[in-house]
Amino acid sequence: MAVIKNIGLLATCKAKGAQSDIHPIKKAAVAFEGQRIAWVGQELKLPKKYQKEGSFDAGGCLVVPGLIDCHTHLAFAEFRDKEFEKKILGESYLDIAQAGGGILSTVNSTRKASAQKLIEHCLKYTAEMVELGITTIECKSGYGLSLNDELKILSVYSELNKAEQLDIVSTFMGAHTVPTEYKNNRSEYIKLICEEMLPMISEHGLASFCDVFVEDSAFTANEAKTIFKTSKKFGLLAKLHADQLTPSGGAELAASVGAVSADHLEYISKKGIEQMARKAVVAVMLPLASLYTHQPACNARKLIDGGVDVAVATDFNPGSAPSYHLPLAMMLSCNMNRMTPAEVLKGATINAAKALGLEKDRGSIEAGKLADFAFIDASDVNDWMYHFVPNACLATIKRGELIYSAE
Ligand code: NIG
Ligand code: FE
Repeated sequence: MAVIKNIGLLATCKAKGAQSDIHPIKKAAVAFEGQRIAWVGQELKLPKKYQKEGSFDAGGCLVVPGLIDCHTHLAFAEFRDKEFEKKILGESYLDIAQAGGGILSTVNSTRKASAQKLIEHCLKYTAEMVELGITTIECKSGYGLSLNDELKILSVYSELNKAEQLDIVSTFMGAHTVPTEYKNNRSEYIKLICEEMLPMISEHGLASFCDVFVEDSAFTANEAKTIFKTSKKFGLLAKLHADQLTPSGGAELAASVGAVSADHLEYISKKGIEQMARKAVVAVMLPLASLYTHQPACNARKLIDGGVDVAVATDFNPGSAPSYHLPLAMMLSCNMNRMTPAEVLKGATINAAKALGLEKDRGSIEAGKLADFAFIDASDVNDWMYHFVPNACLATIKRGELIYSAE
C-alpha cells in the first residue's frame, strides 16, 4: 500500500462529461494497494487507514494518469532520414514511395534485422518513453509483410511486454502495403493475410487488433472489408489508417465495420464524422504525421463538436512520424488540430485507453484502475502545454512501482 501526497493539481481524466472536463482535484492525494488505485480525493479527507502508509511527495506538482500512446509502429530497422530533404524540397510521400522509398524500403531493412536487434532498438525507445510519463503503448507490425517477418515483429512486442517496462498492446498490420513480390498479384497477398497470417497470429495470441491502411497506394475499402471479416473471426478488433492522404471514405468504412478507432483523418468527410459518432469509433489525431507529410491537419473541433471521442498519439514510425515524444504530439494537437490542453490530456489518457478497448482498466485516476501516474512539473495542463519544455515529467509510476524519477 502507498500514498501520493502533496499533489498540487490532480487531473483525474474520468471519462464522463465533455472531452474538456478533466475532473481536476486541487490539493489531492491518491492511495493504491499493489497495482490498483484504492482511494482518490482531497488530501484533507485522506482516510485514517492510509495516513501512515509510505508515501510519494508530489511536491505540489501536477499529477496525471500514466500517458498512453495508442498508435505507434515501434519495431523497424532504420529511420528514413534520406527522404527528409526530398520532402522539404517538395516531393510528396507518395512520390517517394513510388520511387522505391517509403514503407517498402523499411520492409527491406526490417526483414534483414534479427529479432534481437529489433528488441535492442525498441528498448532504447521505450526507456525514453517511460521518462516522458508514458506507461502504455500500442505497437503495430507491418514492416515484415511475410508470414515469418510479421511473426518476428509481433514476437518482439511480446518480448518487450515481458521486459516489464511499459505495457504493450500489439496490432497486426500485415495490410500496411502490398509487398513487392505480390505487386502483380494483390489478391494472393490478401489470401496470405487471411489464410496464413491471421490464423497463426491468433493461435499464438500475438495481437489484439488488426489495422489496415486504406488508401489509393495501399488497400481498397473492399480489400479491407475482406481482411476485417477474417480478423473478426479470429478475435482481432479493427483499427484503420483512414483518410490520411486522400478522402477515401475511411471514416465511413471504420463505422461500418465497427472499428475501435480510425486514425489520421486529415481528409475526413462530414458523413464520416456523423457515422463515427453514431458507432462510437474513436478518432486518433496524429499531428506529427501531418507535419512531416505536409498535410493539412484534421480539425478536431468538428469531431469533438460532432460527438466523437478524440485521442492523440505519436504514430512513431521511420517515415512519416519519426518521434516518440507524446507530450510533443499533444502540444502539436493543441496548435494543429485545434484541441485545448485539457482536451489533448483526455486524448492521451482516457480516450487513448478507449482506442485500445482498455478504458475500464486504465486511462483515468479512479479507484479500481491501474496505479499508473505521471508527475508533471507544471501548475496545470495549460501551463504544461503552453510553455513547452524538453521533458516536464518528474516521475513515472507504473502499476504502483516507481519506474522513473528525474532526481
Ligand atoms: O501511419 N500511413 C501509413 N503508415 C504510417 C507510415 C509508415 C511509413 O511511412 O513508414 C503512418 O503514417
Ligand atoms: Fe500509423
